[in-house]
Amino acid sequence: MALNGKVAIVTGASLGIGSAIAVRLAREGASVTIDYHTHRDAAGTVAGQISGAGGRALMVQADVADVTSVGNLVNQTVAAFGRLDILVNNAGIEQPARLVDVTEEMFERQIAVDLKGPYFAMQAAARRFITQGSGGVIINISSVHEDLPMVGNAVYCAAKGGLRMLTRTLAPELARNQIRIVNVGPGAIATPINTATLNDPQKKAALLAEIPLARIGNPDDVAAAVAWLASDDASYVTGTTLFIDGGLMVSAGGL
Ligand code: BGC
Repeated sequence: MALNGKVAIVTGASLGIGSAIAVRLAREGASVTIDYHTHRDAAGTVAGQISGAGGRALMVQADVADVTSVGNLVNQTVAAFGRLDILVNNAGIEQPARLVDVTEEMFERQIAVDLKGPYFAMQAAARRFITQGSGGVIINISSVHEDLPMVGNAVYCAAKGGLRMLTRTLAPELARNQIRIVNVGPGAIATPINTATLNDPQKKAALLAEIPLARIGNPDDVAAAVAWLASDDASYVTGTTLFIDGGLMVSAGGL
């Protein structure tokens, strides 16, 4: 198994893409910390799925927007499993709204969860990786919208665009410590974050029309890419983004 003996943290691992990543990393042999914020029962289901298949899982409640909470997430992981090798910054929120309707609270919460959270989680993980002296991998679950504008969703796009630049800037900084940082940019994946869009037939049809492979993705599509990026098979990959989007980023008209 590609991740035997490795220890991973997955933030926002109770639902959606995060839960699929946690289960997949465990299937590849990693011990996994399941970070959750609100959905304790769902996190328990993910942990149960992992231990039921013979894997090791630890549940930790944390608010990724809180720096102390994030430090605690790393400390508890190391206390339970002895080390840390992989951080998956997956937790994220999205509150689409037009410029004229966004409140200061909406702006601050999205930036806190989607940009500040990953930054300080990277800091806490990098400190641990450097202490251990054996490298590490950070995978940020970004979005096609780290690059692609989306009308009515500017704050989310700005946070993901910021995440893109964090990865591009920190990858060369941490390369000397053999720490890799990669973004994964999902397109339209069926998860709780976009239930409203997928439940609206008109919006769903408009979205599908933009996707060359003509289907909504599923969390396992993303989890498979994360498992590869976390493994030594991807040991020469850093500072870039892998889009898992059915071609959404290269959607084009024509014949
Ligand atoms: C958003 C989804 C959206 C998708 C494609 C994702 O980052 O979270 O709501 O459907 O991008 O536009």
